[in-house]
Amino acid sequence: TNAVRIAPSILSADFARLGEEVRAIDAAGCDWIHVDVMDGHFVPNITIGPAVVKALRPHSAKPFDVHLMIAPVDQYVQDFADAGADIISFHPEAGPHPHRTVQLIKSLGKMAGIVLNPHTPAKMLDYLIDDVDLVLIMSVNPGFGGQSFISSQLRKIEAVRKMIEKTGRDIRLEVDGGITTDTAPLAISAGADTLVAGTATFKGGESQYAANIRALRGE
Ligand code: DX5
Ligand code: ZN
Repeated sequence: TNAVRIAPSILSADFARLGEEVRAIDAAGCDWIHVDVMDGHFVPNITIGPAVVKALRPHSAKPFDVHLMIAPVDQYVQDFADAGADIISFHPEAGPHPHRTVQLIKSLGKMAGIVLNPHTPAKMLDYLIDDVDLVLIMSVNPGFGGQSFISSQLRKIEAVRKMIEKTGRDIRLEVDGGITTDTAPLAISAGADTLVAGTATFKGGESQYAANIRALRGE
């Protein structure tokens, strides 16, 4: 089937040179740009907001895959959409009405994603999957780059792949956290079609980005 998509997480980039870093991963052949938004409340870390997404937008034409680790979610969706997000994903635990949030994201013409934490069962998707464009499975607890892949999530990737096939719809299955050249093939054979990679993309400096991305694709 199709080659796996690679979405470098700019969390591992040099924040003092973010625009150049986005250009570099674009030139290195990434598919999407993964933007980790953390609020110091839903997760124990603070990163970036819509103003930074907006400032980065002119630096790449590739899809901006915005992963919201914030609570509440709804009041910021419009800001990220206006800033240039193409895909907006959120955690269902971050608000009382995930179905409404999905509709809000789609009403703005953006792709809507649901993120499952390591403890969150695939069943959470039962009454959401018919409306979403993407499912993001966390293979680490959200908050930080550089953590180790939690192997129990492979079963969940398999389960969600089956759920997606049942819908007959074109839904992306993305995996985020601890992706390396060792864990990427496991996630892919379990059914992932898109891999987020922070540490594994940015290691070794700019001259290595293209080789790092190819290695994650198994090329
Ligand atoms: C974790 C973030 C991830 C993370 C990935 O909260 O959602 O995108 O930065 O980093 P690595 O690839 O280093 O595990
Ligand atoms: Zn992420």
